[in-house]
Amino acid sequence: MMTTTERPRVAILISGRGSNLAAILEAAHAIPATFACVVSSRDDAPGLHHARAHGVPTYIVERARGETRDDYARRLLEPLAETACTHVVLAGFMQILGDPFLAAYPRRIVNIHPSLLPAFPGLDPHRRAIEAGAHVSGCTVHLVEPGEIDGGRVLAQVEVPVFSEDDADTLEARVLRAEHELYPTTLATFFEGFAQEERGSSA
Ligand code: GRF
Repeated sequence: MMTTTERPRVAILISGRGSNLAAILEAAHAIPATFACVVSSRDDAPGLHHARAHGVPTYIVERARGETRDDYARRLLEPLAETACTHVVLAGFMQILGDPFLAAYPRRIVNIHPSLLPAFPGLDPHRRAIEAGAHVSGCTVHLVEPGEIDGGRVLAQVEVPVFSEDDADTLEARVLRAEHELYPTTLATFFEGFAQEERGSSA
C-alpha cells in the first residue's frame, strides 16, 4: 500500500525507437513520479539506450513463440513487481496487454496514440487520416482500460494540421513533435492529481 510520503513508481514500456521515452525522461524533473524501470518487448529496441543514459534499470521481456497473451502478461508483471511499480506508462509498446496485467494496474496505465481518438485507433493512423481526407489530426493521451484497443478515458489531446502535400511520414513527424510536448505535460498533471487524491484520502 502506498503512503502519502511515497511518489508513484512508474514503469515505462517500449518496443522500439523510444522517442517518447526520451521526452519523458528529459522532463522527469517536472513530473512528480519516480521512473523505476523501462521494460522492452524487444531486446534490440533502440529506445533502451535512452533508459540507460538516464540510469533507469532496463528489462527485456519478449513474448515467446506460442506464449498466450495472459502468460506473457504475467511475465511482464515480474520486473514491475521487482521494482515496486505503482503505475505504467506505455510509449510505443507494440503488444496488447493481457487481462492479468490490466487487472494488476486498474486506471493506472497510460498510453499515447498518434491520432485524435476515437478517430483512427489501432495501426497506421497517419495513412488512414490522410486517406480519409482529414484536415486535422493529432495525438491523444488516455488511460488503458479493458475493452477496446486505444479506448479508455482521454486525459489530453492536441490537434495538428494535415496539409494537402502530406504523406504518412510527414504527418507522423509533425504529430510526433506534438507527442513529445503533450506526453510529459500530461503525465505531470496526471501524477500531480494522483498525489492530491492520496493527500485527500489521508486527510
Ligand atoms: C508514437 O507515435 C506513439 O504515439 C505510438 O507509437 C509511437 C512510438 O514512438 N504509440 P516512439 O517509440 O516513442 O518514438
